[in-house]
Amino acid sequence: MADELTPETPEEEQPKKKHKQRKNGLYPGVSDELAENMRTGWADTELHGLEPIPQAAHTAARRAALSARFPGERLVVPAGRLKTRSNDTEYPFRASTEYAYLTGDQTENGVLVLEPTGETGHSAAVYLLPRSNRENGEFWLSGQGELWVGRRHSLTEAEQLLGIPARDVRELAEALTEAEGPVRNVRGHDSVIESALTDKVTKERDEELRVYLSEARAVKDDFEIGELQKAVDSTVRGFEDVVKVLDKAEATSERYIEGTFFLRARVEGNDVGYGSICAAGPHACTLHWVRNDGDVRSGDLLLLDAGVETHSLYTADVTRTLPVNGAFTDIQRQIYDAVYASQEAGIAAVKPGAKFRDFHDASQHVLAEKLVEWGLLEGPVERVLELGLQRRWTLHGTGHMLGMDVHDCAAARTEAYVDGTLEPGMCLTVEPGLYFQADDLTVPEEYRGIGVRIEDDILVTEDGNRNLSAGLPRTSVDVEAWMARLKG
Ligand code: GLY
Ligand code: MN
Ligand code: MN
Repeated sequence: MADELTPETPEEEQPKKKHKQRKNGLYPGVSDELAENMRTGWADTELHGLEPIPQAAHTAARRAALSARFPGERLVVPAGRLKTRSNDTEYPFRASTEYAYLTGDQTENGVLVLEPTGETGHSAAVYLLPRSNRENGEFWLSGQGELWVGRRHSLTEAEQLLGIPARDVRELAEALTEAEGPVRNVRGHDSVIESALTDKVTKERDEELRVYLSEARAVKDDFEIGELQKAVDSTVRGFEDVVKVLDKAEATSERYIEGTFFLRARVEGNDVGYGSICAAGPHACTLHWVRNDGDVRSGDLLLLDAGVETHSLYTADVTRTLPVNGAFTDIQRQIYDAVYASQEAGIAAVKPGAKFRDFHDASQHVLAEKLVEWGLLEGPVERVLELGLQRRWTLHGTGHMLGMDVHDCAAARTEAYVDGTLEPGMCLTVEPGLYFQADDLTVPEEYRGIGVRIEDDILVTEDGNRNLSAGLPRTSVDVEAWMARLKG
């Protein structure tokens, strides 16, 4: 034991920083006496009688459906590993959507394995890092020791919380290497697991698993709908926060807006569900403006596209385009009201039995009409739509599925998604926009540099839809009144 803790590197050559020491697996300066001392004197903190997490019943049903789809095959779904940001610092960990969807767990290095029990059926096990061993010094000398990174759940605690048998993940890679029989893995999350399975899987079969898990998430259960509403409600409060500090943002930059929204996301949720787009003035015309380092000026519009992600990893995706000084100019209002009318038409087309494409077509029709009415395009409108001429200024699709991923269900087959039919429980964004680039010489000067998007999160219900983000105003006059109230 003492040998394991005795440094192999001479004292003067040993790295000075604690992180380096941990990463190198070197244990410098640990005397036998200290090692012995650290081994003992710790209370038993095992937790007993834990209640299952709220989603446990739902995750069991999801695993049962997955089992039925792939009988007789071993299914491996990793949470993922920490990713290096630079040197020895890592990005904040975010478990893979597939793993969190099937287990409710979010622990790094976790892996769900569904082991076939015969021609049909599976037994599930979740593989996790157990609590740190105090006997061998791991808990305070290893980089993954609980003294450094915080207490983990014991495997017994994890079983109670998740409702799934839990095993030591350190034994998994070898077990998978030796295992016989057909196996599929969700790729892209865990290189150790992928190496262990490299001779046993095929890209095509793994892709079928990924596609299944993407399509399975299209219809949300009651727990998921509740979480999406929570995400949206926090997002509404984040937008209110931003309106209240617009004067401070004017004195600094778009970053003040990003930071303000982020505070709400971190305090009430897990994180933002995607990089916040805080786009003032002409930046609103850059669809993925996440640099957020520009000026915020009175007289300009601010396009804020942001969403809080809940602790259970469901995200909102909401956009409002706000006049920084609280009042739209005539041309800003003209464009804003056109986008609003387009969004109204899109939302009205969201209902069970409608095609997914219908709301996009309805929104685009209104925008094409406006562009013809303003003399920016030559009609008739049907010709414009047939040739797609409006797209110079509408730029993107009108919406997408929303859930644990902001662009949820992205691996679904075209026939199940873009060419599919809406069903109760689906949640999607409706987010038309018009964007007139600052250097667009085909439009009158007054249009240039104006970008407007309005984005709401819409749940398909039995008899139509429900706007989860109705807590934020949408019409231009309601936006002005709301801003005036918040700015006091
Ligand atoms: N925030 C990304 C999107 O609206 O799709
Ligand atoms: Mn968005
Ligand atoms: Mn969106």
